[in-house]
Amino acid sequence: MNRLLASSCRLALGAAVLALGLSAAPTARAAGDVAAGKALFQQKCSICHANEKGVMRIGPSLWGVVGRQAGTLPGYTYSDAMAHANRVWNADTLSTYLTNPQKDIPGIKMLFAGLPSQTDRDNVIAYLATLH
Ligand code: HEC
Repeated sequence: MNRLLASSCRLALGAAVLALGLSAAPTARAAGDVAAGKALFQQKCSICHANEKGVMRIGPSLWGVVGRQAGTLPGYTYSDAMAHANRVWNADTLSTYLTNPQKDIPGIKMLFAGLPSQTDRDNVIAYLATLH
């Protein structure tokens, strides 16, 4: 009886470990696809952002944006909200921002609903990282 109990305990523990492993999997981020990200950038971002150095459109140039302190590109007039965002753009901060820009930094002037798909965000961030 005791042995039976012990072995079913082990089984339950095994199942719990497996479940933990499975639920941890989606948070591991795969590297994005640069070509898909470039296509997405052209479709969704290029109307307001250039991918060349120093070219301002409605939004600032995104050349070199990965590693940039938010709201600091010379030659572009940011909103107060973005100028005081106080963060460096990296894969994590960009992913949160691009999910829902207005929610992430209330009061910014980027009128873009966001990219709900993590794959889309990973892809566009992989592309942005090539702009150096
Ligand atoms: C409708 C125009 C528009 C679209 C579309 C748009 N943006 Fe923006 N973006 C802006 C504006 C305007 C700002 C400046 C915001 C501010 O100062 O409040 C900005 C700011 C940013 C910043 C901060 C840059 C910095 O120098 O700190 C990033 C990053 C960014 N956008 C990424 C993107 C990406 C990636 C896309 C496409 C998925 C995109 N944006 C689509 C207008 C746009």
